[in-house]
Amino acid sequence: MNKSLRHAVIAGNWKMNKTPDEAKSLVEQIKPYADKADCTVVACVPYVDLAVALEAAKGSKLSIGAQNCHFEAKGAFTGEISAPMLKEMGVEYVIIGHSERRTYFGETDVTVNKRTLAALENGLKVILCVGEYLEQREQGITSELVAMQTKIALLNVTKAQLENVIIAYEPVWAIGTGKTATADQAEEVCKIIRDTIEKLYDKAAADSITIQYGGSMNAKNADELLGKENVDGGLIGGASLIADDFATIINAASK
Ligand code: PGA
Repeated sequence: MNKSLRHAVIAGNWKMNKTPDEAKSLVEQIKPYADKADCTVVACVPYVDLAVALEAAKGSKLSIGAQNCHFEAKGAFTGEISAPMLKEMGVEYVIIGHSERRTYFGETDVTVNKRTLAALENGLKVILCVGEYLEQREQGITSELVAMQTKIALLNVTKAQLENVIIAYEPVWAIGTGKTATADQAEEVCKIIRDTIEKLYDKAAADSITIQYGGSMNAKNADELLGKENVDGGLIGGASLIADDFATIINAASK
């Protein structure tokens, strides 16, 4: 595997944080760091912040993403947002299958696959999340589980479409808990995901896909995690809300 074949991507997952006014201000603070970065920088913001974030990011290298999208283009799905709606706004990225969606909102591997296909068919780039619960890690099924989540999520995704997919390995026990996976644990599972991609597609696809680690990545541990061969970036929750911390992570990915 050759890390130089891949592009580092640092994405902030703001979750349910920041009003539109607050979003504008945080985008203004992050923008200069994105412009200087030697990696792609994305801010995935709440739906109601998309318009102001897109406007505030205009002319900079900061990309804007959403945190989910529905699999149908339109219809009777109260409270949902479709991929064509996001695309028309100018949104570039969308997170699909985040563990909080799976845990609290009934997302399954099958709906993750449907949402992934809808996003890709509408020209969005997907940050596809996979990862195990603590009990699953303790049962020793992390590798099977993560490989299965990856396979189901990518069902019917073509090799050309895969170029617009980033995979985020996020162990659920490390999200928002301050318990980061060790760099070796992150590396081990990111490698399993890359091997799964090789089996599903081919070596070139596996070598070039960006695989992020997410789960309490912060200004202190980013260097070590991002230094691993198969960790090509990060999906960052809490630390993406603090511009200085996010900047430190961006710098770590730019080395
Ligand atoms: P965290 O969240 O960095 O706050 O752990 C990561 C995520 O859920 O994407």
